[in-house]
Amino acid sequence: MLAESLIQATGFLALVTSAQAQSKSKCTPVNNTADSDVLKTWWHVTGEINPFHRVQDENVRQSHVYDIQVASASSPDRFFDSFVYESIPRNGNGKICKPDDLTSLCDVDDQIEIEVDIGVDMAWTQYLSTEDTIVRVTRREGGPVEASEVVIRPTTLDFDVEVDGDAVLITVPFHENGHRFSVEFNDNLWEYRIGDPGNMTNGHYVQNKNPNGARYVEEYDDELNPVMGVEPLNALLVFMSPFPADKYVPDLTRDTYTVPEGLVTDLTQVKESTLYFPPVYMAPGAYVKGAIQYHSHALDLRATGFGVLSGEQYVYQANTAQGYENVKSDNTSLKMWRGESAPGTRWTIHGLTTNAPPFNSMDFYGDDVTSFSVDASDYKQVGAFFGQTDGIQMYPGSHVRDVFYHVGDDGIKTYYSDVLCERMTVWKTNNAPMIQFGWYARDVDNVTVDAVQVVHTRYQTQQVFWPRGIAGSAVSYLDQESTRTANVSKTLSNYSVTNARCEGICPNLVGINPLNNIDMFLMKNIWIETLAPEITDVGKSTFRVFTDEEGNEVQLGAQSPGGIGLVIEDFYVGDEKISFENDNWRREQLGQIDFDEHWDGKWTLR
Ligand SMILES: *[C@@H]1O[C@H](CO)[C@@H](O)[C@H](O)[C@H]1NC(C)=O
Ligand SMILES: *[C@@H]1O[C@H](CO)[C@@H](O)[C@H](O)[C@H]1NC(C)=O
Ligand SMILES: *[C@@H]1O[C@H](CO)[C@@H](O)[C@H](O)[C@H]1NC(C)=O
Ligand SMILES: *[C@@H]1O[C@H](CO)[C@@H](O)[C@H](O)[C@H]1NC(C)=O
Ligand SMILES: *[C@@H]1O[C@H](CO)[C@@H](O)[C@H](O)[C@H]1NC(C)=O
Ligand SMILES: *[C@@H]1O[C@H](CO)[C@@H](O)[C@H](O)[C@H]1NC(C)=O
Repeated sequence: MLAESLIQATGFLALVTSAQAQSKSKCTPVNNTADSDVLKTWWHVTGEINPFHRVQDENVRQSHVYDIQVASASSPDRFFDSFVYESIPRNGNGKICKPDDLTSLCDVDDQIEIEVDIGVDMAWTQYLSTEDTIVRVTRREGGPVEASEVVIRPTTLDFDVEVDGDAVLITVPFHENGHRFSVEFNDNLWEYRIGDPGNMTNGHYVQNKNPNGARYVEEYDDELNPVMGVEPLNALLVFMSPFPADKYVPDLTRDTYTVPEGLVTDLTQVKESTLYFPPVYMAPGAYVKGAIQYHSHALDLRATGFGVLSGEQYVYQANTAQGYENVKSDNTSLKMWRGESAPGTRWTIHGLTTNAPPFNSMDFYGDDVTSFSVDASDYKQVGAFFGQTDGIQMYPGSHVRDVFYHVGDDGIKTYYSDVLCERMTVWKTNNAPMIQFGWYARDVDNVTVDAVQVVHTRYQTQQVFWPRGIAGSAVSYLDQESTRTANVSKTLSNYSVTNARCEGICPNLVGINPLNNIDMFLMKNIWIETLAPEITDVGKSTFRVFTDEEGNEVQLGAQSPGGIGLVIEDFYVGDEKISFENDNWRREQLGQIDFDEHWDGKWTLR
């Protein structure tokens, strides 16, 4: 992993695994990786199989369930090992609030409820290829499998799946944007059910698996314990990337500081413009436990490579100003990526995977954040089991594409103008909408979110003021009770969400608490497989009426053609198109749309 500017690991530890270390396990192949111009895989001899506890500082958690090998389509019989990483909720630390102190249990809600008790985890592998590949997945516990019992999500990928003895062979066509997909076995699914549906304060998961665990119930009641989402217990993601273009590869012969292996406590004195974390085993497999903070005032900041930046050693909401303890602060709780930057900074991130973020994953600070921009591609976030784990900021002029988000909180954050965000694959847990445009009144124009593939969601309750949904805007961050916090001098305009699909049980289409005027808001070609059960309200779309302090109402569509400010076009639930014409859109009907009547005539559904 590398970054083309002076950076400082804000964490107490940055760590790179070593190819020289001895293999711990005899049966683990360590030297059957591919390193050609056609295919690159890598391995960590420091892999530690340990699904319950924290791993040794110098080790990398390895999947206790899956092994993966990859072959190029041109030599389909020659398989090479590709390391399968694993992330577990709370990183095996328990609900601690002080770093490294396993006795410092505390009662702060981290939004992890039953996950540890039922054995949830998330594994992934990453490799590079120039051609079609065959991914061979085996499960350590073995067991024959029928190809029809394996699901690849997003399902539209429609990859060819075959079974060969104990192995599943997945043919992955080459694509210049790579592929980020989930491999799921039907015998490994967990139905997330809640207790007390419709009770916003008590709509938590229940489980019937572990009598000693949280929220155990002996038996489910289908009515009182509706299913809110279905996920594999042992998630498995595969990230195929093309080899990186030259702009993502720094010249390591020039002005480079090579970070030594092992414990790194301070990189603030480094003067070189490139910080290089050496890859493992002749391949781009650096694994860094820590977080990155740019102090550089260079305008061109980059983070590239196919390594992993892991927050696994931090406690939830680790506060850098308070000994990294769990004390929430929007300012100083640790972001995996943080910049203290000059106006005009453009941050390029490519190829990397962020694991186990303890808080919002990325923020830049400086005199004028509205002058920053982000160029993100082939970026992945995994292991975001904690609640307050967001996607990255998209400052004005940003282009964010080909991203995978496992995300607990606001996923796609559309707070700034002139943003193009496309080809996003989202795996969403409890909190906030997948696309967020609320919290503050803003002037935002020209935002496109296109081609969103939601592979899983599991919301517990609807909270109208913090809506769950494909898209939504939360109430004012500063006054979460009030509907008189809008600013009618500000407008959100030319905003579109197009070509979005949500597989499985999904939340509503949109929940709007308008903190500003809205013009030319388009949601087009949206498919939802199933809306969450009506009793929970999670499937219910809302649009409330807000005013400013003086009682002036927010305007919808004042500048839009025909005064129609919100257009919903080609919206499907299952096979059925939801439209005015089909008269199936109302709250008690299939579409579950429950907008305030105040907006009648200002929006359309066609
Ligand atoms: C590992 O693979 C390399 C490249 O194929 C080979 O040169 C080397 O001898 C192998 N080492 C071991 C210990 O097998
Ligand atoms: C929701 O659950 C809480 C906790 O059990 C209970 O105190 C409250 O009365 C419930 N509210 C409703 C509306 O049922
Ligand atoms: C954020 O924290 C930094 C470091 O503690 C401090 O210098 C700065 O003033 C804080 N900013 C705000 C807005 O609180
Ligand atoms: C809208 O934003 C996109 C993405 O940043 C940009 O390419 C385009 O030029 C913007 N359009 C206008 C009219 O400014
Ligand atoms: C409302 O927005 C306008 C235009 O951006 C700004 O000048 C004004 O200060 C804002 N009002 C409040 C109460 O924040
Ligand atoms: C929306 O985009 C159109 C076309 O680029 C532009 O003319 C209009 O000013 C934009 N609307 C607002 C409110 O900025």
